[in-house]
Amino acid sequence: MSVILGIDIGGSGIKGAPVNVSTGQLAGERHRIPTPEGARPDDVVRVVAQLVEHFGLDGPVGVTFPGIVQHGHTLSAANVDKGWIGLDADALFTQATGRDVRLLNDADAAGLAEAKFGAGRGVDGTVLVLTFGTGIGSALVHNGVLVPNTELGHLWLREHHAETWASDRARERDDLNWKQWSKRVSGYLQHLELLFSPDLFIIGGGVSKKAEKWQDHIRLERSRLIPAALQNEAGIVGAALLAAQPAPPAPLVSPALRPARVAGRTEAVPVPVKPSKDKARRKSS
Ligand code: BGC
Repeated sequence: MSVILGIDIGGSGIKGAPVNVSTGQLAGERHRIPTPEGARPDDVVRVVAQLVEHFGLDGPVGVTFPGIVQHGHTLSAANVDKGWIGLDADALFTQATGRDVRLLNDADAAGLAEAKFGAGRGVDGTVLVLTFGTGIGSALVHNGVLVPNTELGHLWLREHHAETWASDRARERDDLNWKQWSKRVSGYLQHLELLFSPDLFIIGGGVSKKAEKWQDHIRLERSRLIPAALQNEAGIVGAALLAAQPAPPAPLVSPALRPARVAGRTEAVPVPVKPSKDKARRKSS
């Protein structure tokens, strides 16, 4: 049995646990340390090192991050400190912990775990995992293979930035009831359906624990939808799964890593709504 430490960096807590990577089960108690105020890189790196020390487990460590992770660099920070943008975070974690750290996007980790051991287990074809929390995270998995950094929470739907409009935080901010929120989510999912034709949507994040409140209100055209099965543990399990895989070979040519520009505001974005031509025409006739 191979046991690997997985660590999930979240907005309110940084959680770790040893994971049996053959079964996807936790092999010991989870340990959580509150995310330091502001989630600045140095403070977060310190907490991750503390967790590694707490578990004292040998071997590589998988760590999630709530933004784009390309070749070990963190390239966006929609909901965390902007100091992360452009950092070789993998190297920072590796140095601070003395371990071989493998870093990946938080939703990608959840997607890997759900596809292999959770709600997507045994499902062929395209599985789209979406996590609804402070933001919206996405993971696209095709026949078990992840396409990383899809960032589908940053799609624009007419005048709406998806994550600002339909995340769980948006539900709370706009004081929506579950039916009203589900209507927004349905609009978003139907657009994704058109773009990706997923065989299955898996809905994760905090809302997956309250599926009875929203599931029956979601309207889709063609795809199946189920709530995530691993809930709080998906990020930890996915991080450990990645760390269990052999490290990719170093690129022959250094990739040009540039920060990504993503909208990162979860408060309402005031957008001037121009009357559509149709409406304007109707008014003038
Ligand atoms: C970030 C994603 C992340 C998601 C959930 C988004 O704002 O851009 O990278 O997966 O939030 O944390």
